[in-house]
Amino acid sequence: MPAIFITGANRGIGLGLAAYYLAQGWHVFAACRQPEQASALHEAEQHYPGLLTLVALDVTADASIDTAWQQVSAKTTHLDVLINNAGVLHPSAKADDLTAVMLHEAFAVNTIAPFMVARRFGDLLHAGAKLVNITMPTQPITRLVRRENHAYVASRYALNALTKMLALEWAERGIISVGLYPGYLQTDMNQHAAAAKPLTEGIPLVANVIATLTAEHNGLCLLPDGKAYEW
Ligand SMILES: NC(=O)c1ccc[n+]([C@@H]2O[C@H](COP(=O)([O-])OP(=O)(O)OC[C@H]3O[C@@H](n4cnc5c(N)ncnc54)[C@H](OP(=O)(O)O)[C@@H]3O)[C@@H](O)[C@H]2O)c1
Repeated sequence: MPAIFITGANRGIGLGLAAYYLAQGWHVFAACRQPEQASALHEAEQHYPGLLTLVALDVTADASIDTAWQQVSAKTTHLDVLINNAGVLHPSAKADDLTAVMLHEAFAVNTIAPFMVARRFGDLLHAGAKLVNITMPTQPITRLVRRENHAYVASRYALNALTKMLALEWAERGIISVGLYPGYLQTDMNQHAAAAKPLTEGIPLVANVIATLTAEHNGLCLLPDGKAYEW
């Protein structure tokens, strides 16, 4: 049975992905900060007995990452897919809105955590396994015109660099590491914006991109239509 580990799986895109893979018969390790309060995951547990393992994980805490790894590695020796999905966005419209706390939090969750989770769980990834870091497509900085959400944007540039560097190193082990933009999808992060797509439309596209990943995609940033984006 294929196995997948997803961070931030209690709501939004993470929950949508967990539900999608459960419906496909995968074993889903659904990680979230407070599993006891993850009511949608508890419902899914009833619906798919034996397929879902809830994992307590605050992605910013090394000890929590280690405990989560112990729980998962006690149940499986391999993960087919690891999705670093947990993320935070602290809105800012201009530089004066930005605080050091916003920057620290954005980098802790959006940049450092995906790297630390990937590294800790790396021994469960074997040749052909896929490391998917959910991100935004960052243009080369010469073309950067964004003037909002500074902490989020900067943290994603840094994540994308780390994803590429890990992809270069782990290619030797046959692991496929990518950045993946899920599309603009209705979640709490954008207050379920009318201009965004519903998760029911977006999640199958994301899952399809993941399903079709091959070694040729290693080190790329992919869009929901499967095309590569120059980052
Ligand atoms: N929605 C979009 O249009 C869009 C577009 C591009 C990229 N993304 C990315 O997609 C990912 C999912 O976003 P979303 O739209 O589903 O947002 P969301 O509904 O706000 O969900 C964010 C998830 O991240 C979790 N999280 C935050 N900090 C965490 C921490 N320290 N430890 C563990 N989990 C933590 C949250 O858990 P709690 O419930 O415990 O807070 C929640 O499960 C993010 O990385 C986001 O940047 C989203």
